[in-house]
Amino acid sequence: PDYPPEPWRVKMVEPIRTTTREYREQVIREAGWNPCLLRADDVHVDLFTDSGTNAMSDRQWSALLRGDEAYAGARSFYVLEQAVRAHYGYEHVIPVHQGRGGENILSRCLLRPGTHVAANMYFPSTRAHQELNGATFHDVIIDEAHDPADEHPFKGNIDLNKLRAVVNEVGADAIPYVSIAATVNMAGGQPISIANLTEVCDFAHAHGIPVFLDAARAVENAWLVRQREPGWADRSVTDILDALCAPTDGAVMSAKKDSLANIGGWLGFRDPELAEQARGLALLYEGLHTYGGMAGRDMEAIAQGIVESVDEDHIRNRVAQVEYLGARLHAEGVPIVQPVGGHCVCVDAATALPHIPRTEFPGQTLAAATYVDAGVRGVERGAITAGRDPRTGTNRFPPLELLRLAIPRRVYTRGHIDHVADSLIRLHADRARIVHGLAFTHEPRHLRFFQARFSPT
Ligand code: F0G
Repeated sequence: PDYPPEPWRVKMVEPIRTTTREYREQVIREAGWNPCLLRADDVHVDLFTDSGTNAMSDRQWSALLRGDEAYAGARSFYVLEQAVRAHYGYEHVIPVHQGRGGENILSRCLLRPGTHVAANMYFPSTRAHQELNGATFHDVIIDEAHDPADEHPFKGNIDLNKLRAVVNEVGADAIPYVSIAATVNMAGGQPISIANLTEVCDFAHAHGIPVFLDAARAVENAWLVRQREPGWADRSVTDILDALCAPTDGAVMSAKKDSLANIGGWLGFRDPELAEQARGLALLYEGLHTYGGMAGRDMEAIAQGIVESVDEDHIRNRVAQVEYLGARLHAEGVPIVQPVGGHCVCVDAATALPHIPRTEFPGQTLAAATYVDAGVRGVERGAITAGRDPRTGTNRFPPLELLRLAIPRRVYTRGHIDHVADSLIRLHADRARIVHGLAFTHEPRHLRFFQARFSPT
């Protein structure tokens, strides 16, 4: 495996600490075997998330100085608005403090008890807001997405038959919107094809149902479309991003991903009335509709980050680095979700640790073991993340039980990635030595994976 050289060089460094195995055993125990509760200083290579962990460019850092901190009508808002309109094409732009701030507003605007949302798999915060507002969630992603070994190039696609069945069952009037993620994080950063997205939008619109895009990683989706979808190989990332957004009615954005920022987000709408309703809620929950909980300088950094995100040298290198980690693991027989997606490599923990039952959380067990082995932090994406069904209160056991290794943008070098690969390859060879699973000692009600504590079984 190989990948193209970085289209940037290092200008400033941030020291990171290495620790001993004994130290890591002690701190993971103190953290209730949940890597999320570790101090970041105790982590050597942090692949917990690619969200807000990106390295900003010198141009983004200088943009911070241009931040206009006016309470109302800040110049920086108009800079952000212009960048979103130019690259994502939504006329009405409402800043929010991060993606879930936007999810809260969109869900409150459109969902009521008795409504239904159909989506390509789920993201925890997205589904939590939808369910908190009374909607019933329906996963209508293609079956292939639930099979880690299936090599379908667009495992983010929606199964039109499943969507049609939901519409027939509950009626189009009860579906305020279809929720589409590009890429699908929980499936392993899997893209949706332009053909499928367009077909879904045509179908939904024919039934009077709007479609909202989770655009957090839409640029990565655009790059994967260029690589995998017939007819798009010669098109620019900018054109493909435009084609992804064009058929949708709006978007929720976490700028902490594709846009190379450390915080922030926005909502994009075409319908002026819905935008006005959302602005009203933004005032209540985020801040004025021209800053949405961000500082003016954050909006400047995002606007510049958007421009950098569609640079082809950047996105090629970014996705290729992720693929490189996947290729190294795959070459040594570590079971991973195939094909490798845009932002992460996901180890198939259920296959890697078949002797740990699902009720003892193989994904979390592997996450803790990976930390102890090499100071590498990933995150469980399986039953713990899926939580309990809000109606029945029973644990959800999704087909995928993963350890996600998400790669921050422009942060780690090949040396770091090789360190991660070497550790996982070593752990996999010695997997029989991982004998204990985990049991909850503390289980929070919402988004439990963040603060849960465990003890070995
Ligand atoms: N949608 C997707 C697809 C996400 O991956 C995230 C966050 C959000 C929405 C929420 O955005 O964090 O800005 O509020 N994902 C992070 C992750 C936390 O680690 O995957 P946010």
